[in-house]
Amino acid sequence: MKNPKRRQVIHAGLATLVAPAVFGGKVKGPTPDEIEGPFYPLTPQADQDFDLTRVQGKNGRALGEAVVIAGRILDVDGQPITGATVDIWQANAAGRYRHPHETNTAPLDPNFQGWAIVQSGQDGGFKFKTIIPGAYPVSKDWTRPPHIHFKVSKTGFHEVTTQMYFPEQILNDVDKLLQSKTPEEQGMMVAQKNDDGTLRYDVVLAKV
Ligand SMILES: [Fe+2]
Repeated sequence: MKNPKRRQVIHAGLATLVAPAVFGGKVKGPTPDEIEGPFYPLTPQADQDFDLTRVQGKNGRALGEAVVIAGRILDVDGQPITGATVDIWQANAAGRYRHPHETNTAPLDPNFQGWAIVQSGQDGGFKFKTIIPGAYPVSKDWTRPPHIHFKVSKTGFHEVTTQMYFPEQILNDVDKLLQSKTPEEQGMMVAQKNDDGTLRYDVVLAKV
């Protein structure tokens, strides 16, 4: 072969394009539902863009470890769903939601957006930049692991309300919600870490 390096590059590119990459190369689904929880945002906010680490009109950055989460919205055959609404909300790095029903006294972070709504693109892709939310107490013997609430909808598909978990979090192993799922379901709810440190998380919707 004249130029093996170039061939390698082409192969790498193709692999990225065609690999279903969801759940060990096989599309399963739909993504399991999880409770919405009490903290779906009630207060309208102007800034709902994909970057939750900055708030429009403020100079600071959200506290905590920044992370990029990217994935695709797919149907159960692995085909991309274009124009799905991806609505996410989460606690800040201290484990507190900006919500009137919040009882956690951890500090608010004025530079954390907390809520975002984006549309999936032509390839079903979406992306957020955010911070890893803090764990927060539910009761004396239960601390929720870091998680992001997702609500994904598109006409013609069943809406999915779920929670995305972070890999390598020890609280995942004892969480009452996550551990009530089967191992296969858990595999669809925990994001996968890419070599560059970003996270991959796909959501699969069933047709109506
Ligand atoms: Fe939550």
